[in-house]
Amino acid sequence: MTNKVNQSLIDTALIERVQQTFASSYGHAPTHLVQAPGRVNLIGEHTDYNDGFVLPCAINYQTIVAATARKDNLIRVIAVDYDNQIDQFDLSQEIAFQHDRMWPNYIRGVVVGLLSRGCSFAGADLVVGGNIPQGAGLSSSAALEVAVGQTFKELYHLEIDGVDIALNAQQAENDFVGCNCGIMDQMISVKGEQGSALMLDCRSLEAQSVALPRNTAVVIVNSNKQRGLVDSEYNARRFQCEQSAAFFKVPALRDVTLDMFESRSAELDPVVAKRARHVITENQRTQLAAELLGQSDLVKMGQLMAESHHSMRYDFEITVPEIDALVEIIKSAIGDRGGVRMTGGGFGGCVVSLIPADLVDALKGAVEAHYQQQTGLEASIYVCQASGGAGLIQVIPAPVSL
Ligand code: GLA
Repeated sequence: MTNKVNQSLIDTALIERVQQTFASSYGHAPTHLVQAPGRVNLIGEHTDYNDGFVLPCAINYQTIVAATARKDNLIRVIAVDYDNQIDQFDLSQEIAFQHDRMWPNYIRGVVVGLLSRGCSFAGADLVVGGNIPQGAGLSSSAALEVAVGQTFKELYHLEIDGVDIALNAQQAENDFVGCNCGIMDQMISVKGEQGSALMLDCRSLEAQSVALPRNTAVVIVNSNKQRGLVDSEYNARRFQCEQSAAFFKVPALRDVTLDMFESRSAELDPVVAKRARHVITENQRTQLAAELLGQSDLVKMGQLMAESHHSMRYDFEITVPEIDALVEIIKSAIGDRGGVRMTGGGFGGCVVSLIPADLVDALKGAVEAHYQQQTGLEASIYVCQASGGAGLIQVIPAPVSL
């Protein structure tokens, strides 16, 4: 089934920019317009690659693809966010990794993955563009991968479901781009639901939607702290998690209970033990958070978010001083009426806050008054709406040639 998207949540200027670039570059209107959203994770950090639980929501910032099928095997892509740079490759030849620039690899990787899954399709003319802040930990790359997968599904009526589009996108990132991420970002970009977060079991890939309480705002604040060492630190954390799962002789840390852990943690390397404790306790918090959010209990949800941040700061050690400062500033403005924590892979990026809508101004005021003064950086604030997953925005019938 095609997932039609509520267009009011998409920036119309962005849609126009992508459509106009398409028309002026290819000489006709696109037949398809597809979007895939970025995401913010409310709780459940670094649990996805441990077969655990995550609770993200898709946000109203997207990657858009305008597209038309071609009769030959050529794929042409124009990237509006990269000065209309062009990438071009042929489906009947080897599709190579590009070393001089990264953006084409997300598209190439998805196409290679679809072909390796046995999907059959010809070429396409594409224009891509988006408004998800890049490098901020809001999954702009997952959105691009999912948008491209969804586009080929729509153009060629591929028999591929949402979970496979997400898995294919993750495979593109792992095997083609070379980043060893988990499945959370791609799954939420596919499966997001308007007004809801998604409780995702990253082992079974079962997803359950959890409606956000009425009058709740999801506020993302970008620290604008340049994310450094992300890949090496991410991989180091993955390795430490695998080491501790191997110690307990289980497939993944998901299978270790807190009791099991506590009875033997002294036998582990102390750093590895801290990493494991984060994942094990974060899995518990995430399951509880889904229940509490379902009961509209923002106060207890806020406590869990605080515990999650503390665990990321001291056990998983993925926060940085600027992010910790931002969390403190926001916490002092919202008190115990909501929650705030770092979100995403870590080492910079964003914090997410879940608060009653009437606190948005207080949050903004506190960030504006204190963050720059404490850190020398200026934060960007996004008041977001939980949004639907990837889908067709609009199908424009192709002009009839006489
Ligand atoms: C990045 C990865 C995800 C996940 C988060 C941490 O966003 O892409 O798979 O591991 O970090 O929760």
